Amino acid sequence: MRAVRVTRFGGPEVLVAGDVPVPEPGAGQVLVRVEVAEINFVETQIRRGFTPGPPLPEPPYVPGGGVAGTVVGADADEGWSGRRVVVRTADGFGGNAEFAVADQAQLVAVPDAVPLTDAAALLNDGSTALGLVDNAKIRPGEHVLVEAAAGGLGSLLVQLARAAGAHVVGAASSEEKLELARKLGAETVVDYSRDGWTERVREATGGGPDLVFDGVGGALGRAAFEATARGGRFSVHGASSGGVTEIRPDEAAERGVTVLGIEQLFPLSDPEGARERVERALAEAAAGRLRPVVGRTFPLADAAAAHATMEARAVPGKTLLLV
Ligand SMILES: NC(=O)c1ccc[n+]([C@@H]2O[C@H](COP(=O)([O-])OP(=O)(O)OC[C@H]3O[C@@H](n4cnc5c(N)ncnc54)[C@H](OP(=O)(O)O)[C@@H]3O)[C@@H](O)[C@H]2O)c1
Repeated sequence: MRAVRVTRFGGPEVLVAGDVPVPEPGAGQVLVRVEVAEINFVETQIRRGFTPGPPLPEPPYVPGGGVAGTVVGADADEGWSGRRVVVRTADGFGGNAEFAVADQAQLVAVPDAVPLTDAAALLNDGSTALGLVDNAKIRPGEHVLVEAAAGGLGSLLVQLARAAGAHVVGAASSEEKLELARKLGAETVVDYSRDGWTERVREATGGGPDLVFDGVGGALGRAAFEATARGGRFSVHGASSGGVTEIRPDEAAERGVTVLGIEQLFPLSDPEGARERVERALAEAAAGRLRPVVGRTFPLADAAAAHATMEARAVPGKTLLLV
């Protein structure tokens, strides 16, 4: 079958298309004919040999933690064979290929009203966004700052925070991205690549956001923490800048800021909870209440170009591979 492999850790060029054997499902697993493979930002970091948390695989490996497609093969039971599904791949790899193995217990049926591209865009990002918003317990009228507000996860957080009744500030690095964040529900948008951006956030929020969703980390995350209102919440879910936001417990305590983590949302910690949130995200999309933003699609063989585009921060929304 066709697949893309990471031949060694490095830049996008280490992603090489070729032929590999079709994987064999084990007990309780099924084979999925992949139509869409999603790319998470963390997969670009892992390809470089950097991990903000998940263990590093050993190259060569087929990347791809989430796919949308059709269940194939007689090993699938309970009526799954032939159904449109979206699912995490069995060990978090193997999705950038024509066929991928998934645990049957993790399969999620895709409603007819939801295209497979949208389903793939919602698999990880939708589940994570719903979990983060559940944990943050947003109250109507609160001011919420979303970093990377036009990203895969950020674009969903903007919509969910708005739906919860918050005043949303969307922060991103380009006019095009800020425009998207505004369309998705951000009342205020701020370009955080410009000096003085936290001043604008403080002005827009009457002194500082009550809640920050931090997916960028590093200096930007640190500045966002410093802008957070006294008594607010700082929800950390990523480090796309390359380093997590460093916050000493005593300085958070001194300002009464609660730092919320993401560990309990990881699929491995709570597979059933993660699966339930995927179903919820798809139902919200089918009802027209949640809009995944597919920024750009690439053919499978162009996975290297897809990674390069993501790392260059060039496209708003989600980047997907069409198989
Ligand atoms: N998706 C999930 O389910 C999930 C789960 C757990 C954790 N996370 C974490 O959440 C974060 C967002 O994930 P995502 O997949 O939705 O990615 P994404 O937001 O679509 O892409 C990452 C974004 O980070 C921003 N960014 C800021 N500094 C950057 C830098 N130095 N280099 C590259 N990008 C930079 C860019 O937006 P601007 O150009 O607007 O700055 C970029 O588009 C990641 O840190 C990821 O590891 C995601």
